[in-house]
Amino acid sequence: MASVRCTLPRRLVGLASLRAVSTSSMGAFPKQVKIVEVGPRDGLQNEKNVVPTPVKIKLIDMLSEAGLPVIEATSFVSPKWVPQMADHTEVLKGIQKFPGINYPVLTPNLKGFEAAVAAGAKEVSVFGAASELFTQKNINCSIEESFRRMGGVLEAARAAGIPVRGYVSCVLGCPYEGKISPAKVAEVAKKLYSMGCYEISLGDTIGVGTPGLMKDMLSAVMRDVPVAALAVHCHDTYGQALANTLVALQMGVSVVDSSVAGLGGCPYAQGASGNLATEDLVYMLTGLGIHTGVNLQKLLEAGDFICQVLNRKTSSKVAQASCKL
Ligand code: HMG
Ligand code: MG
Repeated sequence: MASVRCTLPRRLVGLASLRAVSTSSMGAFPKQVKIVEVGPRDGLQNEKNVVPTPVKIKLIDMLSEAGLPVIEATSFVSPKWVPQMADHTEVLKGIQKFPGINYPVLTPNLKGFEAAVAAGAKEVSVFGAASELFTQKNINCSIEESFRRMGGVLEAARAAGIPVRGYVSCVLGCPYEGKISPAKVAEVAKKLYSMGCYEISLGDTIGVGTPGLMKDMLSAVMRDVPVAALAVHCHDTYGQALANTLVALQMGVSVVDSSVAGLGGCPYAQGASGNLATEDLVYMLTGLGIHTGVNLQKLLEAGDFICQVLNRKTSSKVAQASCKL
């Protein structure tokens, strides 16, 4: 294993919690937030060079050690479309399954669902978008057709007793269509929820959103889907991910997707950078006195490990700061 270079000094390990502030003047925050770690999937799907399978397995095991409650492990998509995820079966079979931790995988269609279940998946995610053109580029069909495909996965999952999460991409903007209306996002989110997705993750795929847009979009979606069933998934292309996530928390969202070291992007959304860094999210939540169950030091070690392997600087500000200290 690579040596750990980024370590929070002992006196600073609990710094964020020591700084926990009264949040009464900032609106009501959830007491607890469930973090969905998407780095091994959203992060590594976007790497130019395919990351070796043992590295992926090691990363997921380290994230489990850090106490992340949900770790999106891989995706059962076509290897012709996303070769970076072609080792999905080996990854899912190779990771340690910690009790109490979920390891969902992306499944775009029945073929992917069946392969995922055969590899031992206990939870899957389907993914659609609020943009017609993005849907075409990403999964090669119309929004209407995507509902049919996702419906097939949901039906099979229901029969197998497997919970399904649903993603809606391009909720704050699309690389091909530009502006996306909150009403369209609400329509797609409502459809996925009514079809049986237990949770709907709202993705700012290209990270163009700002807090005002997030507020308007969430207000529209919350009229149709209970806030307890919503998650936000912010990419950080324009440096807005943490601010947008804070707004979502203030509006009652208590599930947040993020990626260790800020890895990520979408192969079908050119220019999209990584997700909100999990280290930065944990630091902020701890500072707000919100429970996550995540060990920040172990998380930093996981981020350091993958950045060393990828020979890349972390995108997490917290990790950068702890390296300088
Ligand atoms: P298609 O070409 O229209 O599919 O692709 P098809 O049914 O015509 O099949 C074509 C070939 O693919 C066939 O093989 C199938 O067997 C095979 P051939 O006969 O040519 O040898 N195939 C598969 N192989 C393995 N696993 C499968 C599978 N399905 C078909 N599941 C498809 C349609 C959906 C498969 C394709 O477009 C695809 O795989 N797209 C992947 C897109 C993707 O992974 N995007 C990134 C994830 S989404 C994201 O990052 C956004 C998110 O993070 C939220 C946010 O940020 O907004 C979630
Ligand atoms: Mg994403």
